[in-house]
Amino acid sequence: MSGTTPAGTSDERQAAAWVRGMFGRVAPRYDLLNHLLSFNIDRHWRNRTVRAVQSVLRRESATIIDLCCGTGDLTIALQHKTSNRVYGSDFSHPMLQQAHKKSIPRLFEADALNLPLRNKSADLLTVAFGFRNLANYEAGIREMKRVLRPGGMAAILEFSQPPNVVFAAMYSFYSRRVLPKIGALLSGAGDAYTYLPESVRKFPGPDELAAMMRSAGFASVGYQRLTFGIVALHVAIV
Ligand SMILES: C[S@@+](CC[C@H](N)C(=O)[O-])C[C@H]1O[C@@H](n2cnc3c(N)ncnc32)[C@H](O)[C@@H]1O
Repeated sequence: MSGTTPAGTSDERQAAAWVRGMFGRVAPRYDLLNHLLSFNIDRHWRNRTVRAVQSVLRRESATIIDLCCGTGDLTIALQHKTSNRVYGSDFSHPMLQQAHKKSIPRLFEADALNLPLRNKSADLLTVAFGFRNLANYEAGIREMKRVLRPGGMAAILEFSQPPNVVFAAMYSFYSRRVLPKIGALLSGAGDAYTYLPESVRKFPGPDELAAMMRSAGFASVGYQRLTFGIVALHVAIV
């Protein structure tokens, strides 16, 4: 399997079904837990993503799609900085229902591995904290490449392993011991917050992800680590 591997799943279909079910269960509490468990730094990470893609946001008539949009926080942050239409897409209906409550006008339900979009039809694709959950990472990158126009941009914001060993040890304690307990208590879905640090641990490092993007045909692939490398933001051009 070349994507996420939640405990108890043994193929890509099962992994995707588990991820979809899990986000469906945590959807009503997702925003609260997100902001609480990240000490609100998640807002800063999304703002950094918006800043990194601003050249495309300024393009006239650009088609912009926030994949794995969940409850839509990045979709909203992108829309605030452009007069173009921003679309949010996710395969979890309950997550989209939460996004809908925030009055996001353009949402559609779709699997990021099989988007209902024509080849070369988008100028910007973003994914915040969704890519790690895909059942096949290479297929996810290929699908983004297929949908983007020449000159189009992809931005992937995802959790990562902090490179500093001391910070990594502290972060590991927090994410493996503290976060699952608070997450279980507040969401009622303990498995979701045990899955989170496990999925981060198994996720390819930033260099590996950058290499995957290059071999799928992306150019100018670069990344920056944010907040001591807790997250990495990859940006690339087709
Ligand atoms: C951690 S949430 C992130 C939501 C939002 N982007 C944010 O920044 O808060 C991950 C989202 O990815 C979605 N997701 C995971 N795999 C997906 C797939 N194959 N296709 C579409 N959405 C997917 C989940 O349903 C969930 O809403």
